[in-house]
Amino acid sequence: MPDGNAYDQFLDYANRANPYRLFPELRKTPVARQPDGSYVVSTYDEIVSLLHDPRVSSDLRNVPEIAAIALPPEHAPQLPPEFIRRDPPDHDRLRSLAMKYFGPPHSPDRISRLTPRIDRIVTDLIDGLAGRTRIDIVDDFAYPLPVTVICELLGVPKADEQRLHAWSQLLVGTNDPTTGTIVERNRRRFETMAELGRYFDDLVEAHLRDPGDDLLSALATDGEMARPDLLSTAGLLFVAGHETTVNLVTNGMLTLLRHPDVLERLRHEPELVVTAVEELLRYEPPIQMPGPRRTALADIDIGGTTIPKGSVIVLVLASGSRDPERFPDPDRFDPDRRDNQHLGFGGGIHYCFGAPLARTETQIALTELVGRLVNPRLVTDPPPYRHPPNLRGPEHLLVDVDRVE
Ligand code: HEM
Repeated sequence: MPDGNAYDQFLDYANRANPYRLFPELRKTPVARQPDGSYVVSTYDEIVSLLHDPRVSSDLRNVPEIAAIALPPEHAPQLPPEFIRRDPPDHDRLRSLAMKYFGPPHSPDRISRLTPRIDRIVTDLIDGLAGRTRIDIVDDFAYPLPVTVICELLGVPKADEQRLHAWSQLLVGTNDPTTGTIVERNRRRFETMAELGRYFDDLVEAHLRDPGDDLLSALATDGEMARPDLLSTAGLLFVAGHETTVNLVTNGMLTLLRHPDVLERLRHEPELVVTAVEELLRYEPPIQMPGPRRTALADIDIGGTTIPKGSVIVLVLASGSRDPERFPDPDRFDPDRRDNQHLGFGGGIHYCFGAPLARTETQIALTELVGRLVNPRLVTDPPPYRHPPNLRGPEHLLVDVDRVE
């Protein structure tokens, strides 16, 4: 165990390849006050309790310094926060308006209609690797897959993808707590969201003139969501759909290559992929802690501590998913694990909106990769990681293969 505060160690890039060995130390203090006055929560029960607590706000406008940020005119108009950063009743209203066209989590019709298309995209991407003996799972596969899917779902033209990719990267950087104060990062986020909003405004106009079978056209033509909220929602879905699944697919391949017995089983028992993907969300979650920090709206007694009103709360979901009080043998990757209520998609009212899509994409992706890459071997272990501690995943994942079938 390295010296020093376990949460600081977790943020330190030096520990990006394996943050998990820090979690037992972190969990010794389930609700730990940090030198900056924030509270880091690392145990399963306490995280779940706070995810469901209406006294815990996701709206950063409850932080006075953030509420005071006003963009200069060249960046106007400033968009309202996306619903991931709103509290009820606005959160619930906007989420259910968007959900109307996405399919509720338990009857994912849009997703089941999309499944053959996802199959096709996966097949085409792997066909494109024919003749190669070295593959970068990130650049060659795990990145283009969810980007293509979310662009089609939203009705974003493929030609605009590069521009949007740059904005998406900037927004991800603003969630990284190691890249500036919360005020600096939110100012950068507001500026980027305003630019993204201007892009989506033009796109919405185009969809109103010529609607397609996509989410933005549906939201724009029914007119129930005010335009600024529609633009924020489009930005949220674009970034959320863009930057998370890539890490689940990549972390998934990395974990399977480190567990060749499971990889071999998946080849012969493709149905195992369902529980294997749930286990990946627990064992190697792309979101180690949510980007939107929480604020206590009242004094909250939890885990033997009182979090004072106004404090920032950081929920380390990845640590909760490795809590031995909740999951037996938590550091073992067990693709057959039952009773796996992991925190990979969060919980409570902000539970991941895209979970059915992310599950479907990753299940199809891993099944096909395992079935078609012959004798895959990791080139470097651990691979190089992307910088953010919260949205964690390899920058590249080089794999050598005998051939691609
Ligand atoms: C929320 C994880 C894919 C859309 C969340 C949250 C987590 C999460 C942990 C909770 C955030 C919080 O509590 O503040 C993931 C993971 C994914 C994934 C691990 C992929 C493996 C997607 C996709 C989409 C999406 C593909 C869009 C199509 C959203 C939205 C929210 C959300 C809109 C906010 C929900 C709300 O505030 O009500 N996601 N997500 N996610 N996710 Fe995902």
